[in-house]
Amino acid sequence: MKSYYAPASTGNFSVGFDLLGAAFAPVNGELLGDELVIEGEAAELTLRLSGRYLHQLPGDVTDNLVVSCFYAFEKKLGKTLPRLSLHLKKHLPVGSGLGSSACSIVVACYAFNDYFGKPLSDYELLQLTAECEGGVSGAVHYDNVAPSMVGGLLLMLPESPLLYRPLPWFSHWKVVLCYPGTVLSTKAAREVLPKELSLKHSIVFAGNLARFVSALYAKDETEAFASLHDLVAEPARLPLIPQLSAIRSALMAQGIGHVGISGAGPTLFAVCQNDEQAEFAAAYFQQHYEKNQDAMTHICTLEQQGARVLSNQSVQD
Ligand code: HSE
Repeated sequence: MKSYYAPASTGNFSVGFDLLGAAFAPVNGELLGDELVIEGEAAELTLRLSGRYLHQLPGDVTDNLVVSCFYAFEKKLGKTLPRLSLHLKKHLPVGSGLGSSACSIVVACYAFNDYFGKPLSDYELLQLTAECEGGVSGAVHYDNVAPSMVGGLLLMLPESPLLYRPLPWFSHWKVVLCYPGTVLSTKAAREVLPKELSLKHSIVFAGNLARFVSALYAKDETEAFASLHDLVAEPARLPLIPQLSAIRSALMAQGIGHVGISGAGPTLFAVCQNDEQAEFAAAYFQQHYEKNQDAMTHICTLEQQGARVLSNQSVQD
């Protein structure tokens, strides 16, 4: 029996549509991600499901991403593998903007690769996860699978054999994530995106992303906050998350540096410079954005580790 874990992630980080992504971990030590247990080998592939967001998963386990990842992994190796008895503990809400599908895909592919003796290189493994994620969201993008796999804040380099590079981070930053409890599929949230950007728009987009990345390297927090604008997805997705403008105004009026959409939403994230701001943002989100019992709000730091074997620390069932 071996347990594996992969963390939640925020795609885009506002300023880098499909090109920036970060993994997060709650400051209280809880794990915010999915867990997969390989219980052993079996005559047939079996998957048991549990976890807080079990009710959001397809009723038929053969439709579960973990099962499709097993067959995709096998196809990539080009040989039949022994069947496994699996248990997915689904702790991330589906269609939340927290990289939930990427998290299940990453924990599954990482676990299979580890269990079968690492036949895939890190590069091949990440490519496989991006292909599996593309099947769910309708487009191959690395900004959830890569941070979930390796941790940190990453700049995707889809045109490069490197695929991504880790970026510096302000270690005192706290990121407050609030999932309101409602589902918004990434596929649907991608359908509203503009099909093209004008030359002027493209230059401003590239300029903001470059400004943010250079500010991180220069350790210039003022410049980093000033560059955090989403000119690609947010204008198109705002009608799906109309509360964003009022929440952003209220939080930024308290000195909080940035509020944006986590991935495709509906989770929102607030970037805070100290504990006081983070606690204010968490309380504000809970009061003004959480909608039902599925909602959750976490004060997080950057998760430096990605997918991994869990020793004795386990997310609850
Ligand atoms: N970059 C992706 C998007 C992230 O915004 O559609 C999805 O979580």
